[in-house]
Amino acid sequence: MEVIIVKSSDEVADLASRRIKNLVEKKPKAILGLATGNTPLTLYAQLIEYHRQSLVNFSQITTFNLDEYVGLDPQHRASYCHFMKENLFGPLGLDPGQCFIPNGMANDIAAECEAYEKKIHQKGPLDLQLLGIGREGHIGFNEPGSSLGSRTRLKTLTETTRQDNASQFGSPQDVPLHVITMGVQTIMEASEILLMATGLGKAQAVASMVEGPLSASVPASVLQFHPKTRVIVDDEAASKLSRKAYYREVYAKKPPWQSADFV
Ligand code: F6R
Repeated sequence: MEVIIVKSSDEVADLASRRIKNLVEKKPKAILGLATGNTPLTLYAQLIEYHRQSLVNFSQITTFNLDEYVGLDPQHRASYCHFMKENLFGPLGLDPGQCFIPNGMANDIAAECEAYEKKIHQKGPLDLQLLGIGREGHIGFNEPGSSLGSRTRLKTLTETTRQDNASQFGSPQDVPLHVITMGVQTIMEASEILLMATGLGKAQAVASMVEGPLSASVPASVLQFHPKTRVIVDDEAASKLSRKAYYREVYAKKPPWQSADFV
C-alpha cells in the first residue's frame, strides 16, 4: 500500500483527480469504479473543471458505481443514481449507457446482483476503483463481518452507517436498511485502487486498514493484499497511523519515474 499524507481535504481531492486525469489521458476508454458520499465531491468537481477546460476527454469512459440503496426511487435526491447524475455524469455529459449503477428497485435483487457482477466482468477489469472508507472500515457497503471473498450482493447497513448517511433522509430510521454493493472480491479485482479519506472521524478506520491485522471485521484491511493500492489521506485522517513519518519520507523521496502517473 502506498500511503500519501497531505495537509487538507482539497489536496486529497487534487491528487486523486490528477491520477484519474492521467489515467484517462493514457487510456480514453478507461473503466472506472466510482464511489458516492462526501469524500469524492471535491474530486468530482475537479474532474468537471478539467472537462470544462477541455484538459481531458471523458466521453469514452465507462463507469461502475459501488452501491445503491434497495427500494429507493432513482429520482429520490438521496439515491446514488441521483447523486452521480448531479455531481458527475450530467456535468460531464456522459450517456446513461456508459454509466452503470446497481438497480435497487429491481424485482429480483439477487438476479440484479448477479447481472451487475457479470457486466463488470464483461466490460472489465476495472482500471481503477475509487473508494472512500466508513468509520468502521467498510469499503463499498461491505460492512464489518463481510466475507473477504464476497461478490455483488444485498447487504444490511449497520446502525453507524445509517447514522452517517442520515443527512439526506432526515433521520437514521429513514435510511434504507438494505443496499446492493459490489463485493470485497469484486473490488479487489480492480487493477488499481485509489482510496481517499479525510477528517478525524476516519482516523481509526484508516489506521486499522493500513496497519491493523487483516480481518473481515475491518473489510478495508483486505487492501493490504492488493498489489496497487494508494491511500490518500489528510493530516486528520492520518493522525492515528504509527508510521506516518516513514510514509511521508517514502512519498517525498519517491524516484521521479514512480511519480509519473500523477503528472
Ligand atoms: C459510497 C460508499 C461508501 C463511502 C463511505 C464513506 O459509495 O461505498 O463506502 O465511501 O461510507 O462515505 P463518506 O465519503 O460520505 O464519508
